[in-house]
Amino acid sequence: MLVRLATVFASILLASATPSSVNAVEKRQSFPKMVFCHFMIGIESDRTSSADYDGDMIRAKSFGIDAFALNIDQQLGFAYDSAARNGMKVFISYDFNWWHIDQGAQIGSHLAGYASRPAQLFINNAAFVSSFAGDGVDVTAMRNAAGRSIMFVPNFHPGQGNFGAIDGALNWMGWPNDGNNKAPKPGANITVAAGDSQYRSALGGKPYLAPVSPWFSTHYGPEVDYSKNWVFPGDLLWFNRWQEILTLKPEFLEIVTWNDYGESHYVGPLSSKHQDDGGSKWVNDMPHNAWLDLAKPFISAYKAGASSPNSFITSDQIIYWYRPTLTNLNCDATDTTLVPANNNSGNYFMGRPDGYQSMQDAVFVVTLLTSPGQLTITSGGHSQIFNAPAGATAFQAPMFVGQQSFALSRNGANVLAANSLKDISSICICGIYNFNAYTGSVPANFVDPMGPDGLNRLVEGLHVQTCQPTPSLPTSAPPYTGPGGVPPPTSVSSSTITSQPASSTSRSSSSASTTPPPSSSTSNTTPPTGGCTITASEQIRPTNCMPKGCVWAGPPGQSTPDHCDGSRRR
Ligand SMILES: *[C@@H]1O[C@H](CO)[C@@H](O)[C@H](O)[C@H]1NC(C)=O
Ligand SMILES: *[C@@H]1O[C@H](CO)[C@@H](O)[C@H](O)[C@H]1NC(C)=O
Repeated sequence: MLVRLATVFASILLASATPSSVNAVEKRQSFPKMVFCHFMIGIESDRTSSADYDGDMIRAKSFGIDAFALNIDQQLGFAYDSAARNGMKVFISYDFNWWHIDQGAQIGSHLAGYASRPAQLFINNAAFVSSFAGDGVDVTAMRNAAGRSIMFVPNFHPGQGNFGAIDGALNWMGWPNDGNNKAPKPGANITVAAGDSQYRSALGGKPYLAPVSPWFSTHYGPEVDYSKNWVFPGDLLWFNRWQEILTLKPEFLEIVTWNDYGESHYVGPLSSKHQDDGGSKWVNDMPHNAWLDLAKPFISAYKAGASSPNSFITSDQIIYWYRPTLTNLNCDATDTTLVPANNNSGNYFMGRPDGYQSMQDAVFVVTLLTSPGQLTITSGGHSQIFNAPAGATAFQAPMFVGQQSFALSRNGANVLAANSLKDISSICICGIYNFNAYTGSVPANFVDPMGPDGLNRLVEGLHVQTCQPTPSLPTSAPPYTGPGGVPPPTSVSSSTITSQPASSTSRSSSSASTTPPPSSSTSNTTPPTGGCTITASEQIRPTNCMPKGCVWAGPPGQSTPDHCDGSRRR
C-alpha cells in the first residue's frame, strides 16, 4: 500500500511537464499541517451562551487541535464566538443528512453569513468549508453564493462526487469496514489505509483530509426511530491509525469525533454540556479523555512532519481501555434490541451488535515513556508483565471480570501504579450489551461525570429497573496493592503487539533472579502508588478540580488547584 502511494507521488513529481501537475505539487507543499475535530452541534441544544463552548475550545486547543468542524445550523453563532474568544478556529461541515444536495446556492449564502466572523478558519486566504456526504451538490452555485474565495473540502466519495470541482476531500471512514457501512467480513474487508489510497488517487495532488477515529459502537433499539446496532473493529485502532498517519502524512486530518456519544467515537469530555442523543445507556461512566492524551504526542509529531511520536513524549503515562463486559456475557433476557424495531436503514440487528466478533476480549494499554520500564497489566487478578521501551508502545492482555490495575516499574520499584475506577462486570450493566470502551490513565485523568442533560433519556426503553440516570463511577480507586517491580518469571515479549522492536528478552532474563516483595515499591518513588498525582493543569480540565485523593505536583509557580469538594461545575 505504502509502496504504491509512494509510486503515485513520485510519478506526480516526475510529470512536471504538465502545468496542472506542477500546480498540484505546489499546492500539496504549501499547506500547513492541520488537525481538525468533528463537533456535533445538534446535541448541544441545552447550551445557552457562547460561554458554554469555552471548555471544549480551550481543551481542544491545548491538545493541538486547530479547528472544530461544526456540523449543523443550531448554535453556530455561540461556537464561533467562543472560538474567537479562545484562540480557536472553526468551520462549517455541512451535514447532508440535514441539508440537501439541491441547496448549493442556499449553502453558499449561509456560509457567507459565517465566513466573515473572526474565528472562521482560512487557508491560503480561502474560507475553509467541509461536509458530511453531499456528492452531487452544485459546487459552482455554492461558490457564487458565498461571494468570496472558499476552500471546499467535502466528504465526496471517489466514483460518486465530482472531484474536479472541489479543493480537497474528507474521507469519513476511519474504521475498517465491509464497504457497506458494517464491520469487515471475510471477502469484504476494506482497511482504513485502502480508503486513504482510494481518496489519494481520486484527488490527484489535491489535499486529503484523512480520518482518525478511536472506536465505533452503537446500540439503539426500538426506543428511537433510527434503530441501529453495530460496531466497527476498535481494539487498537486508535494507536495503529495514529502510527499510520505519521507515515501517510496527509495534508489535514480530522478526529472523528469530539462528542458523538451515540456512536461512541467521542474524545471530548462527558461533562461538556450536552443533551442525550439516546446513547447515555452505553456512555454513562465511560470517559474517553485518556484517548486524547494518547493523541497528543502524535498530533505534535504529525505537525512537525516526524514519523515517530517518541520525541514529543515529555512525561511517563500509562493509557488503557477495555469494554465493561466480556463478549460471552449473555444479556438476551434484558437487552433492548431483542425485539423488532425500525430497520429502514438496514442497520438494525438483534442482540449483540453486528460485527461484535471483530473485537477481542482484551485490555489494551499504550505506554508513553521517557525511558524504558516494565509494565504490569492485572485484569481480574491475572497479571502479565511486559518490557516497555521508551516512546509509544501498545500492549494487550486477556480481560477478566474484576478489578483492572496498571503499573510501571523501573529498577524493581513502581513509578506509576493505580487501580482503574471501573471494574469489568459479570452482569449486564443497565441490562444491555455494551461494546463501548472505558478509558483511563496513570497518572489519573480528571474526573468526568456526565451532567443531567446528557442522561435524560437513559432509562428510555430499558428492561431493568436498576439503572439510574446518574454517574456512578467512584472519584478515586482503592489503593494499588498489586504486583509491579517484580521481574517477570518468563519473557512475554510475544504478547507485545506493536511493530516497534521489542526490547523484552535481554532485560527480563537479566533480572529474573531478584524478587523484591511487591510492597517495597511503595516506599520508594515520587508519584505515590495507589494514589494519584496531577502534574499538569490540563489533566484536570475542564473542571480544574483536583479529584479526591489526588496530590498536585505541577510546575513550580502554578498554584495548587482546588479539590472543589461537594460542588462541581457542569
Ligand atoms: C481484515 O483484514 C485485516 C488486515 O488485513 C485482518 O487483520 C482482519 O482479520 C480481516 N478481517 C476479516 C473479517 O477478514
Ligand atoms: C435489517 O436489515 C439488514 C439489511 O437488510 C439485515 O441484514 C438485518 O438482518 C435486518 N435486521 C433485522 C433485525 O431483521
